[in-house]
Amino acid sequence: MKYKEIISKLTLEEKAALCSGKDFWHLVDVGRLGIPSIMVTDGPHGLRKQNQEKTAAGDVLGNSAPATCFPTASATASSWDIELIGEMGKALGDECLKENVSVLLGPGVNMKRSPLCGRNFEYFSEDPFLAGKMAASFINGVQSKGVGTSLKHFAANNQECRRMTIDSVVDERALREIYLTAFEIAVKEAKPWTIMNAYNKLNGTYCAENKWLLTDVLRDEWGYNGLVVTDWGAENEIVDGIKAGKNLEMPSSGGIGPKKIVNAVNSGELDVNVLDKNVDTILELIFKGAENLHSNYDCDMKAHHALARKIAGNSMVLLKNEENILPLDDKSKKIAFIGEMAKQPRYQGAGSSLINPTELDSCYQEFLKNGYKVAYARGYDKTTDEVDEKLIASAAELASKADIAVVFIGLTEIYESEGFDRKHINLPPSHNALVNAVLEKNENVVVVLSGGAAVSMPWLYDVKAVLNGLLSGQASGGAMFDVLTGKVNPSGKLSETYPLNLDDTPSRYNFPGTLLTVEYRESIFIGYRYYDKTEKEVLFPFGFGLSYTQFEYSNIKLSKKEFTDNETLVVSFKVKNIGERDGAEVCQLYVASPESKIFKAPKELKGFKKVFLKSGEETTVEIELNKRSFAFYNVNVHDWHVESGEYKILVGTSSREILLTDKVSITSSIEVDVPDYKLQAPVYYNGDMAFATDDEFTAVLCHKIPEKERDMSLPIDKNCTLEYAVGTKRGEKITKVITAVVEKIGGGGINSEMMKNTAFQIPLRCFVTMSSGVFNDEMCDALCDVLNDKPLTPSAMKLLKNIPSALKKLPELFKSM
Ligand code: BGC
Repeated sequence: MKYKEIISKLTLEEKAALCSGKDFWHLVDVGRLGIPSIMVTDGPHGLRKQNQEKTAAGDVLGNSAPATCFPTASATASSWDIELIGEMGKALGDECLKENVSVLLGPGVNMKRSPLCGRNFEYFSEDPFLAGKMAASFINGVQSKGVGTSLKHFAANNQECRRMTIDSVVDERALREIYLTAFEIAVKEAKPWTIMNAYNKLNGTYCAENKWLLTDVLRDEWGYNGLVVTDWGAENEIVDGIKAGKNLEMPSSGGIGPKKIVNAVNSGELDVNVLDKNVDTILELIFKGAENLHSNYDCDMKAHHALARKIAGNSMVLLKNEENILPLDDKSKKIAFIGEMAKQPRYQGAGSSLINPTELDSCYQEFLKNGYKVAYARGYDKTTDEVDEKLIASAAELASKADIAVVFIGLTEIYESEGFDRKHINLPPSHNALVNAVLEKNENVVVVLSGGAAVSMPWLYDVKAVLNGLLSGQASGGAMFDVLTGKVNPSGKLSETYPLNLDDTPSRYNFPGTLLTVEYRESIFIGYRYYDKTEKEVLFPFGFGLSYTQFEYSNIKLSKKEFTDNETLVVSFKVKNIGERDGAEVCQLYVASPESKIFKAPKELKGFKKVFLKSGEETTVEIELNKRSFAFYNVNVHDWHVESGEYKILVGTSSREILLTDKVSITSSIEVDVPDYKLQAPVYYNGDMAFATDDEFTAVLCHKIPEKERDMSLPIDKNCTLEYAVGTKRGEKITKVITAVVEKIGGGGINSEMMKNTAFQIPLRCFVTMSSGVFNDEMCDALCDVLNDKPLTPSAMKLLKNIPSALKKLPELFKSM
């Protein structure tokens, strides 16, 4: 232990207090021993340092110090640019130092299991290798400044619906190969100072107290020795959590957690040495976090805006460009800009990552500033999905007079947020109607999309070009100008598949699950792994993106043709820019495994490199592969295993456009049995695993599928949510009251939706631990009694009387979240 001496001077109460937050964003200090308090805050693509006093009721997430809103992970991942995201990390580190923040709560590396997850914009990819590499570089960037990060949300938190209680039921192989890999890469390559455990349960146990996850895998296997912090309110039983390998409860539980620790030590339930070790890890973070803070640290916010623009320009994905309608480099052309997003960009998602930007570019203004003749029509009202015929008619009228119509559409704020998932992958009807109306008047239509998740595009075949701007931060308007005019040659590639429709997606029948569980029946077949295996057509494949130039691939070479799995292999090939413009290309390397007794994806991404080439320039790209590039996770031996055989190396410009192929023969260094599910679970070999039956899923899960539904005759307890109680007589009434109050406070928009989900889907225990004293334990017990339709005790009566005033304080409850 590093801080043995200080720990010997701490009282039991002080040690326990250090294991919980001081408030919403600070850690506890102990002045007499020189232990300072440090601040941690969101994250991930900007700093959300809240000004708590000034936060108005209803404005639950706003009012933070101005900070650069960098492109969200939906965009940065599409840049596939490791160096650039490292630069972004450094800039974020600087902004943390400027605001005296010691840990930035990000990045998020959860997999995009379904396009519906409300928080996909905050996550990198459907591919764990890409997500892990981007996250590692981000973390290294931030931490190079002496500021920590929090890799989140560990693990299998792939939906917002019931995220605080749901049990993610995932087989071990899928966990290892898909859901844990990005965390593993980031932990091993970047050593994040902290890791944030997810709210949900993983295979039956809350992540906050999952020993297998937090100790066996994270610490013992991956060698992690940093701090594990709960997601805000993800604590269940603090003592169980500490024993399992979690260190810090956030935010403060108002003394409840520390009291439990003191009692557990006194009763012998918690070994004081375990507590001391825990405190040692917390002190390590506090001292490291405080070390680099000094007053008057400043950074160049203008330079950060410029960096945000550069990253955004490198991230946007050109999806279509017929007749080379783009770039728009002829200033004499009459251009109609149609759609409110041309002037008011959609550039970030809602929830805890909501940044108060230092400035905000508008694409329309950029065009005007640069001497283009652009006229504007609003086309729709961003705050509603209703089709406004008048707005559409005047947009169509404008389009009829223009040479080119550029239509700015996308997912509006209400579609993408923390706290709830999307219900479908359609764009707002008013946006699709607008494109169709414009198409009737003008055949030169360019669509500029905004949004952090896959959408369907019913007008795709009729428009000439589509630029996917994703959610690219405060400089997205400027970056759109750069890409649309050719100042920047587009080089982004999709970091997730765009399916033809929701019905094609692998988790469609198992998302978001039932009241108790969500079953990952598709196992390892997520994203392109699924579409490839089931040979489904897609709208746009993983890794796809066009450029204004063309690249030619040639001359693939392998450093050896045969190798054993403990060696490394270097794949090299040439790429040439054969077009007329300079530009960057993302070269992708996939590995295809030989036929096996175990099911495998047809190919998996194992390497990539982004290269910038001037027109006519050629370069040799080298990518190194190792054992993990060829291994699958063998649950028979609980280890990575490369089977002997011939593997294909596939190099291409997207997952569905492979341009070079070679093969390598591998000899395994171990002889072990490979699980064979052909008889028990044939669907994983030659069927559609979205339809895996109970028996088939049980076979790969290697244990019984847990109960999906709750026995509603069981009494409501503190781990239940209000959702569990809608069936009880009083539950129904209380639900109605809360719905009405939340609607009122949230103003009916995105805040209401988020609050409603939070109110009904947080375990009742969190009303106490997260309410800064508004609710107490006694009130929570009384609430359970009330919901259980028990005779009303005096404290239940008091509670009921107090409900209206407690509800008035609801904004308090949500204020700092
Ligand atoms: C989110 C985290 C975030 C935390 C603090 C939680 O609701 O899941 O990502 O860092 O709040 O705002």
